[in-house]
Amino acid sequence: MNRDSILYQDLERVLVTKEEIEEKVRALGRQITEDYRGKAPVLICILKGACTFFTDLIREIDLPLSVDFMAISSYGSATKTTGVVRVLKDLDQSILDRDVIVVEDIVDTGITLNYLRQILLQRGAASLRIASLLDKTARRKVPDLKVDYVCFDIPDAFVVGYGLDFDQKYRNLPDIGVLSPAIYTKP
Ligand code: IMP
Ligand code: MG
Repeated sequence: MNRDSILYQDLERVLVTKEEIEEKVRALGRQITEDYRGKAPVLICILKGACTFFTDLIREIDLPLSVDFMAISSYGSATKTTGVVRVLKDLDQSILDRDVIVVEDIVDTGITLNYLRQILLQRGAASLRIASLLDKTARRKVPDLKVDYVCFDIPDAFVVGYGLDFDQKYRNLPDIGVLSPAIYTKP
């Protein structure tokens, strides 16, 4: 898909290009490979937003890792968090005594990940780290939430693409872009 494609017309601007994403994801894969040498971590993909990032990232990690998937509700179709988090799909495997890396698309207020971190630690993970493609630090409401790996710090704008959606759309954009406010302020 190129920039003349129809989905790009709803963007105010492209924020992070697919080339920039590729480079950062490769570097993060190398970093995780070093940090977990001799271990076999389980990487947990938080559906659906993190799926694109996840499938790219795991192929850059040279470790005998395993994968699992979890779906939690956060936004619905609005662009503001509700603070209510529900588990829609749980993990298939036990994480007892495992080194866990949670892979998220974006940390905004931090409410979702803070909740998730607590429930995963209660299940007896040996260690738990968080890897997020994007971080909107300016909007954090849980100041002590530690995000261990971040690819891009971004400004406070609503972004879509590379897995991130608005109303379930735009996940298939290869780049990450700021959505035109006209799209979500429509009556
Ligand atoms: P938090 O609980 O406020 O940190 O919300 C995190 C979740 O909100 C993410 O996993 C996303 O699903 C969603 N979210 C936050 N900001 C954006 C955005 O700019 N674009 C798309 N989804 C977002
Ligand atoms: Mg998400």
